[in-house]
Amino acid sequence: MNQPVIEVRGLVKRFGDFVSVDDVSFDVRPGEVFGLLGSNGAGKTTTIRMLCGLLRPSAGVGHILGIDIAREPERLKRSIGYMTQRFSLYDDLTIGQNLRFFGGVYGLRGAAFDARRSWAIDIAGLRGKEGLMTGSLPGGWKQRLALACALLHEPKVVFLDEPTGGVDPLSRRKFWQLIDSLAASGVALIVTTHYLDEAERCDRIALMHAGRIVAMGSVPELKEVFSGRAMLEVSCPRVLDAQALLERRPGIHEVSAFGTTLHVVVDDADHGRATIASTLAGAGFDPLEIERIVPSLEDVFIHCIEAEDERRDAS
Ligand SMILES: Nc1ncnc2c1ncn2[C@@H]1O[C@H](COP(=O)(O)OP(=O)(O)OP(=O)(O)O)[C@@H](O)[C@H]1O
Ligand SMILES: [Mg+2]
Repeated sequence: MNQPVIEVRGLVKRFGDFVSVDDVSFDVRPGEVFGLLGSNGAGKTTTIRMLCGLLRPSAGVGHILGIDIAREPERLKRSIGYMTQRFSLYDDLTIGQNLRFFGGVYGLRGAAFDARRSWAIDIAGLRGKEGLMTGSLPGGWKQRLALACALLHEPKVVFLDEPTGGVDPLSRRKFWQLIDSLAASGVALIVTTHYLDEAERCDRIALMHAGRIVAMGSVPELKEVFSGRAMLEVSCPRVLDAQALLERRPGIHEVSAFGTTLHVVVDDADHGRATIASTLAGAGFDPLEIERIVPSLEDVFIHCIEAEDERRDAS
């Protein structure tokens, strides 16, 4: 029951000597929204392109709906939905013509196409707009049309590569309602995003950095990296000087700059507060405020990337 529909083991992609995706493994089950999060160039799009049968892996195996990604790329492409990082739509076609084009790509004809077209127009909220030129549409509409086109053939596995880049907050919200309703109907989705609030909406997340998955799990599971420790937010003048002073103190594990504040990971909140106060107040960092906070996904992200960089430097 509920077997994974996406299974990836040890996936690698090399471009010459450069390793773009490095030993990536994960599973995704029906109805799951799986987020790929990571900095620019982390390897998210390259991973997705291999899983969609568009790039041949250098090593490793992947199965989507039981289809081997390296052996049957054509069957794979017909079985999945893929919304690319850049728009796949034709700007000089109308909404209706784009739907017809993608229907043709997926071999939909006659009454079957008409039914799916009608469904797609409804989910994209574009009823009555079929004659509008795609190039003239607002970003949020285009995004919903691109998703609707990728869903015409009712795929059970869908890849969305930065689907909401450059879209306003209200449109992003509507788009995520669509994602949630697809997941509720049993579709498995892989979504890449740079927005941490969107990542929080995923059932599970993989954090990618320099081609590797450096952390994976649900948001509460990821926040466990700080378990047993407390995070304090320190507001004071000259935060970078303060950071350098605090980094050398016992009981202080990590100090990261967040704009005009510092996030400090300590063994114990009360001891940590006392250490910070005595270190900084004595050195003239005034006014000084120290407050305990709940770590955010951004804290987790920075922690995991720094830990990975340290691991690399050490090896
Ligand atoms: N065809 C290619 N030839 C050489 N290098 C490539 C090729 N495609 C991707 N790369 C490199 O692989 C790395 C990962 O790129 P990728 O596009 O997968 O990152 P990403 O995580 O999707 O980044 P972004 O958040 O900017 O979209 C980058 O350093 C990129 O330059
Ligand atoms: Mg990308």
